[in-house]
Formats: sequence, C-alpha cells, structure tokens
Amino acid sequence: MLIDTYGRVATDLRVSLTDRCNLRCTYCMPEEGLQWLAKPDLLTDDEIVRLIGIAVRDLGIEEVRFTGGEPLLRPGLPGIVERVAALTPRPQMSLTTNGIGLQRTATALRDAGLDRVNVSLDTLRPDVFQAMTRRKRHDDVLRGLEAARAAGLTPVKVNTVLMPGLNDDEAPDLLAWAVANDYELRFIEQMPLDAQHGWKRDGMITAGDILASLRTRFTLTPEGQEERGSAPADRWIVDGGPHRVGVIASVTRPFCRACDRTRLTADGQVRTCLFATEETDLRTALRSEAPDDEIAELWKRAMWGKKAGSGLDDPSFLQPERPMSAIGG
Ligand code: GTP
Ligand code: 5AD
Ligand code: SF4
Repeated sequence: MLIDTYGRVATDLRVSLTDRCNLRCTYCMPEEGLQWLAKPDLLTDDEIVRLIGIAVRDLGIEEVRFTGGEPLLRPGLPGIVERVAALTPRPQMSLTTNGIGLQRTATALRDAGLDRVNVSLDTLRPDVFQAMTRRKRHDDVLRGLEAARAAGLTPVKVNTVLMPGLNDDEAPDLLAWAVANDYELRFIEQMPLDAQHGWKRDGMITAGDILASLRTRFTLTPEGQEERGSAPADRWIVDGGPHRVGVIASVTRPFCRACDRTRLTADGQVRTCLFATEETDLRTALRSEAPDDEIAELWKRAMWGKKAGSGLDDPSFLQPERPMSAIGG
C-alpha cells in the first residue's frame, strides 16, 4: 500500500510517457518548445510495464492514467496498454491527451484495453485555438473526440483552461456544445506549472468566475459530496440533468486532503505531487537489476515524503523545476 504520513492512500497512478508535445499551448510552454528528455533517459516500454506491474501487484494501485506531454506521441502506447490490460489485478486504464491522432488510434486503443479518455480542448473557435496552441489542429481535436466517443472510450471528458482575453467568454458555448455532444466538460483553474514561470494569481480565471459565467445561461445544482470521493472536479448538474459540468479548482479550492495520486515521470522518477520539489529515482534501481520488492520499497518510502498540499498559499511557495508537460497533467 502507498500510504503517506497524513494517512492518504494512493490508488491512482499517473504515468507520463513522454515530455514532448505537438502543440505549444501558451500557458504551458514557449513557441520553440523545451529541452526534451534524451531517449536513453526515457523508460523503455518494458520498464514502464514492469513498474506498473509492481504498482498493481504490490502497492495497491487500481487505476492507471497515461499522460505526457502528449502520450499519443509514444509509438509503443497500444502495446503498453495491451500489456497492462493483461496484468493481474487488471487496473482501470485511461488516457489524458490533446486529441491529435486519436481519430486514427481510438479503436485500436480500446481494443488493446483502454477504458476511457480525457481530451484537452480550450475553445470552439479555430482562430482562438491557433492563438492558444500556436498550431492549426482544431479540426483534428474535434475528429479525435468523435472517434473516442464512437469507440466507446466513455465517458469522454473534455478539459478546458480559460485564459483572460482569449477564451474566457466561451464557457457557456463550450457547455452547450459538450451537452449536445455527450462530453463531460471540466474547467481547470490555471496553475503555476508553466515552463515560462509566467503564472499570476491575479491574471487567473477562478472557479467563481467560471460558475458565474455558466449561470448566465444554465441552472447549476451542486452534486452531492458523496459522489465526489477523491475526484479533482467539483461537479454540477446542468439544467436538472442528466449532464454534469465540473470545475477543477486546484488553486482556489484545492482537493489535496483527498489526494489519492502518485506519479511516474517519463524518465522514471516518482513524484508524490504535481507541486513536489523532490523526486525518487526508480530508473537507476530498475537498471541495476533491483528485485521487485526493493523497487516497491523505494516507492513506498517516496510516499512518506508527500506534503500535505500544494503549498500554493504559502508565502515561500516555489514553483517546481519540472513544468506540467514533463510531469503529466
Ligand atoms: P478523472 O477525473 O479520473 O477522469 O481524471 P483526472 O481529472 O484526474 O485527470 P486529468 O488528466 O484529466 O486531469 C485534469 C486536470 O486536473 C489536470 O490537468 C490537472 O490540471 C488537474 N489535476 C490532475 N491531477 C492533479 C493533482 O494531483 N493535483 C492538482 N492540484 N490538480 C490535478
Ligand atoms: N494549469 C492548469 N491546467 C493546465 N494544463 C496544462 N498546463 C496547465 C496549467 N498550468 C492542462 C491542459 C490539459 C491538462 C492535462 O492540463 O490543458 O487539459
Ligand atoms: Fe495531491 Fe499535490 Fe495535487 Fe494536492 S496538489 S491534490 S497533494 S498531487
């Protein structure tokens, strides 16, 4: 079991498969991209499957989410999914993606054993998409979403970050579109995890702003707390149901007390939190032929260092060195 000193138990593992991305979202990374991890530093497919095996057999992990960067850029993804689906116990498996390429791969991923996907989409307007991502791929994302729904990778969730002056007027339109297309829309407050260190609390659209904007067009009723569990999103029932909308208020209403996550970076480091400033190296252990129980022990010990929360409200808060794209959102 992965338990921390606050008694929280991690049952949800997020695995970053690459730090690379084919978009350049302005709130995430600069136009020129970043210094990507070198190939020999990345875990191999075999190493990833071995670590996930240890996590589900020896450490109580029940759910595995593949993230990036953009995880669809990892050529071995379908094979990894297939091998994880064959593990005992078999974990739930999901993917967080920007949707580019999903049109081609959704069915194969479902057949390999993927259960569901979360797709990032910030706008319904192609010109705003291009301004926010610096790429002309809006249509690819819409096609990817449709393919995911058709393949039964459901519920398909859509993650949206609102940025002032760009898409902050779009919340009601996005919700109307999500309801019509049967996607579960979730708005995410922007967090200080960008590579450029340009985040400012004053410049951020808050959960309160988002709800006020949605209420100009919809009636929102809070969903019961019992349904939330350790999910990061607060959810509201839209116009009496059955659709829901979520808000992930990581900054103004953090859910750290219910956190059930542990993370693995593409270069084999355990992170206990998005905002952790320390990491535990599993890659070296893997490559020096450590047995499973030794690796499990290292992972358990890593969790003892998990902090109570993100520390965002502390005057001494320091943004972690690794940007979001190299942690896995
Ligand atoms: P499900 O609810 O299981 O579908 O997944 P999820 O919401 O955990 O996964 P997803 O990758 O879609 O995450 C959505 C966003 O939630 C991320 O991009 C982050 O912004 C935020 N988030 C995810 N994990 C954490 C976390 O551990 N802490 C905080 N503060 N935010 C998180
Ligand atoms: N704050 C909040 N969400 C972010 N994402 C990327 N960077 C940030 C940030 N700084 C979102 C993406 C995607 C999800 C994985 O994380 O838009 O939806
Ligand atoms: Fe967990 Fe850290 Fe996220 Fe809080 S910020 S929910 S402690 S991972």
